[in-house]
Amino acid sequence: MTEPVVDIYLTPDHADRSLRHDARVGLTGDPKWLPPKWFYDARGSALFEEITRLPEYYPTRTESSILSAHAGDIAGRTGAHTLVELGSGSSEKTRLLLHALREAGTLRQYVPLDVSQSALRAAVTAIHQDYPMLAVHGVVADFTQHLDRIPGQTPRLVAFLGGTIGNFFPDERAAFLGALHKTLAPGDWLLLGTDLVKGPEILVPAYDDSAGVTAEFNRNVLAVLNRELGADFDLGNYAHVALWDPENEWMEMRLRTVAAAKVTLPELALDIVLQPGEEIRTEISAKFRKAGIESELATAGFGLDSWWTDPQGRFALCLARTR
Ligand code: SAH
Ligand code: AVI
Repeated sequence: MTEPVVDIYLTPDHADRSLRHDARVGLTGDPKWLPPKWFYDARGSALFEEITRLPEYYPTRTESSILSAHAGDIAGRTGAHTLVELGSGSSEKTRLLLHALREAGTLRQYVPLDVSQSALRAAVTAIHQDYPMLAVHGVVADFTQHLDRIPGQTPRLVAFLGGTIGNFFPDERAAFLGALHKTLAPGDWLLLGTDLVKGPEILVPAYDDSAGVTAEFNRNVLAVLNRELGADFDLGNYAHVALWDPENEWMEMRLRTVAAAKVTLPELALDIVLQPGEEIRTEISAKFRKAGIESELATAGFGLDSWWTDPQGRFALCLARTR
């Protein structure tokens, strides 16, 4: 039995400064925007878990089915001693990998990393309970800033699941993959989950479910600004919008202002005015094709080793190796 450890790199002060910076830049921009990482306070993380169980939201269950089919291959090919997971959330799907790596007899350590302290702590406790002999080393950090703090020994397998890489813009994606490659040793592995391009009849409902959970998740970012920055957004005044952008091949979530509003953000000494119909972009969720992923990975220094999809070709899991 090894007691779990949690390292915290997002101190309240760091998080405060970073949120203030993002809110000021985003809400004074034209058009207005907010980065998606601010969805994930305790409520946002719980809402995301609810989203994963919605009938319209196919990515989580599809990725799980691919993982179930190929976790043994992944364990055999990588022989990983350390499994790092970026944006690990509840670590639910990860159990499939932990199980296979344990069966293969190579796994020593699991390192989940997430910006959401509540989700991370709950996951660390649950995984420790079910895998008491595994060293669990949680990290509360931002994967755009703290990749160099990741513990563990080669051969490492870094899992980035759920299609979360799609929440980066293309330039952020390239920077992220390049930074990740820098922190890895030759022969380390990346397991990447990516949602694939498909028709809007599947995509739009996945981001605009009939139960309204995604709408609540989207508006939650305003609740975070109200709580953390003393803002006075009236959540009922912002309509959830989910759009497919065929040119960029990404889904976009926005919050559309219903009635004209003046919002005060006392912690920023800032007032903003929103016109009726004015939108705040809160997330993109890029959808991918195999050729694009292979070429982005190659640019960052990764060679594609394996590519698996579900029978309907909705979602892909790929294994790549540092060169
Ligand atoms: N991997 C899980 C959760 C995906 S939800 C799954 O596939 O179901 C996205 C996760 O990434 C959330 O847990 C969120 O808190 C985390 N996250 C978002 N932005 C982050 C950032 N910049 N740094 C670290 N974690 C982040
Ligand atoms: C975490 N991320 C991959 C999710 C996605 O599908 O882009 C977040 C989400 N947004 C709306 N629903 C789910």
